Amino acid sequence: MGVPLIGVVGCGRVGVSAALQIALKGLGDIVLLDIVQGLPQGEALDLSHMASILGLDVEITGSNDYRDMAGADLVVITAGVVRRADMTRMDLLQKNSAIVSDVSEKVKEYAPSSRVIVVTNPLDVMTYVALKKTGFERERVVGFSGLLDFGRFRYLVARELGVSRSSIVGPIIGEHGDSMVLLPRLTHVLGKPLTSLLPKEKIAELVEKTRKAGAEVISLKGWSASHAPGAGVSLMAEAILRDTNAVIPSSIYLRGEYGVDGVCSVVPVVLGSSGVKRVIVLDLDDSERREFLRSVEVVRQAQQAVDKLLH
Ligand code: 2OP
Repeated sequence: MGVPLIGVVGCGRVGVSAALQIALKGLGDIVLLDIVQGLPQGEALDLSHMASILGLDVEITGSNDYRDMAGADLVVITAGVVRRADMTRMDLLQKNSAIVSDVSEKVKEYAPSSRVIVVTNPLDVMTYVALKKTGFERERVVGFSGLLDFGRFRYLVARELGVSRSSIVGPIIGEHGDSMVLLPRLTHVLGKPLTSLLPKEKIAELVEKTRKAGAEVISLKGWSASHAPGAGVSLMAEAILRDTNAVIPSSIYLRGEYGVDGVCSVVPVVLGSSGVKRVIVLDLDDSERREFLRSVEVVRQAQQAVDKLLH
C-alpha cells in the first residue's frame, strides 16, 4: 500500500488546524481544498514550509479542484459557515446542509472508497447529510466532536481534582450541542467514579461549563475554536489510517443501538481502517437514558428539517 491520501475540504481555521496536526503525525499526503482561489494553495505552501523546518517529508498541496483528491483514503469535511457567539450550532443548519450536501456529492464521485470525518456544524445533522449524499455505508461516515467536548470536560475536572488530564477517562454521548450528555457516573479517575470524587453541585457546574465552552471560546477570541478541533480530528484520522481500534466518541447513524433508529448521535465507537468497526453500547441508568433520548430527539427534528430542505 502506498502513502495514504487525505483530503481536507474547507480551508478555514479548523481545516488548516486539522491538516497541520495530521501533518505532524505523518499520517499521509494531504490535499487541501477550498472554493477560494489561492487560499488552499497558500495554506499548503505555508504548511509545507512548516514540515520542511521540522524535517517532515509530507506532501501537502492545495487545490480548488476536487479531481486533485481523487482516490483519497480519508476525507475531512470542515467546509461551512462558522458560528458567531450569538448563534447556536442549529442556526447554521440551512446554509451548511447545502454546502455539505454539495461536498459529499464530490466525495462520492472522486473518493468513492474513502472514510469520511465530518466536522461542520451542526455536527450530527451534517454527519447525516454526508451519509445520505455520499450513499456510503454508515461505518464510513463519522462525525467529530466527542473528543472535543470530553477534552473540555476533562480540562475542567483535572483542574478541580489536581490530577493529570490523561488520568481522567469517560464517555460522552448525544448531540454536539446544548443537549450533549456527559456521564459523570461513568467517568473515572483510576477506577474511582467522578460521582465519588466531587459533590453533585460541582459536577453540574462543570458539565454546564463544558456545554458552553465552545461559545465561551468564540466570545473571547472572536471566532470559533480551531486548535482543539484540529487535535481531535488528527486522533480520529490516526485511528482510521493506522487501524488502531481506538475507542473514540463519534457521531454515527444509529440503527437500533440504544433503542434509537435513524438518527446520528455521538456514542463510543471502535475506529479503525474500515471506519467504525463496532458501536459500544453503554449501560445507562434511567436518568442517563432519558437525557440521551432527549438529546437524540433534538437531532431527529433537525434531520427532519434537513430532509425537507434537501428533498
Ligand atoms: C465548538 O464546540 C464551534 O462546535 C464548535 O467549539
